Amino acid sequence: MKTKLSSNKRKFIPVSIPQISKEDISSINKVLKKGWISSDGPEVKIFENEFSKKINRKYSIAVSNGTAALEIAVKALGIKKNDEVIIPNFTIISNALAVIKQNAKPVLIDCDLKTWNMNLDDIEKKINKRTKAIIVTHIYSFANDMDKILKICKKHKIFLIEDAAEVLGLKYKNKMCGSFGDLSTFSFYANKQVTCGEGGIISTNNQQLYKKCKSLRNLCFGKTQRFNHDDVGWNYRMTNIQAALGINQLKRLDKIVKKKMSIGNYYYNKLSKNRNIYMTPPRISYSKNIYWVVGILIMNKKVLASKIIKNLNRYGIGARPFFWPMHSQNILKKLKIFSKKSYPNASYLGKYGFYIPSYLKLNNSKMNYIISIINKLI
Ligand SMILES: Cc1ncc(COP(=O)(O)O)c(C=O)c1O
Repeated sequence: MKTKLSSNKRKFIPVSIPQISKEDISSINKVLKKGWISSDGPEVKIFENEFSKKINRKYSIAVSNGTAALEIAVKALGIKKNDEVIIPNFTIISNALAVIKQNAKPVLIDCDLKTWNMNLDDIEKKINKRTKAIIVTHIYSFANDMDKILKICKKHKIFLIEDAAEVLGLKYKNKMCGSFGDLSTFSFYANKQVTCGEGGIISTNNQQLYKKCKSLRNLCFGKTQRFNHDDVGWNYRMTNIQAALGINQLKRLDKIVKKKMSIGNYYYNKLSKNRNIYMTPPRISYSKNIYWVVGILIMNKKVLASKIIKNLNRYGIGARPFFWPMHSQNILKKLKIFSKKSYPNASYLGKYGFYIPSYLKLNNSKMNYIISIINKLI
């Protein structure tokens, strides 16, 4: 009761708050003053180059968001009707939509309960002669085991799209996530390590794919006759205003990642003692935990995550549910895409997982309060 009363005086603690510095604002102002407010102009190119350097890739193509990056990636690889693409079941719907929009079929892999990434041991059972690619998504915490995935792709001669939207700054062994895929994608939405407000990027080492992605981003304008277009593209361009913010944010990436990890570790050290919940640990053999979000999985199944989220909100604490599995999505069920109906792990995470505040300025006193309420509720 005491905790509840004191919570009334507290300001609501949101899950995420973007960190915008004075330098961020002045770099945006500079672009506005110069007048380069659309996608033509220097900042987009500078952002792409700086990004390539950061993750050690040859080419980057800045786009309007991470979903657009995935759509371009799938089309650039020539994926079309009757092709199959393997994707995680526990992920953002953008993975499935990018495949469906090319009239191809997403094939689901259930997730692993300890890492929340897809269960790599299930992939080869789903490969057949229609399989053209795997989308591997690094979910919330850890890198996927890329050596294993690359081996499978090589053996079956299929493409790899790496969705690194959530893990900018994380390494698999000693190599940056987002540097493994034939095409790798990122998002710069407000809750990401680096934000452009909205934004995304595709990275690759393949010059031909780079050119195709660049063309798809910009309506596939004709090479000899500009307004005679070569393919069905999009306007998925990033603006210089977004890029200016991205350039400045990218300079702070190492600090941001360190801070995210320290917040995650703090929560883990205190909360993992509670036997009724599971949290991903600070590291596994091939990856540190980036704690993009600090996820909590309810183990005793006594109460659903949706109920806990409501109760946390009453105590002035923001919390969000985990991804809802692809096979249970209303729209995807209507489209009758998935044959196998049971994916127990993804279903479990969807019902019993949620994440708690972990923005960069979150202090120990707020975290202690959040920890005490979680221990009270679960
Ligand atoms: C793994 C993953 N991929 C793709 C996206 C889509 O990015 P955006 O929101 O920029 O379209 C997200 C969004 O958070 C994501 O978590």
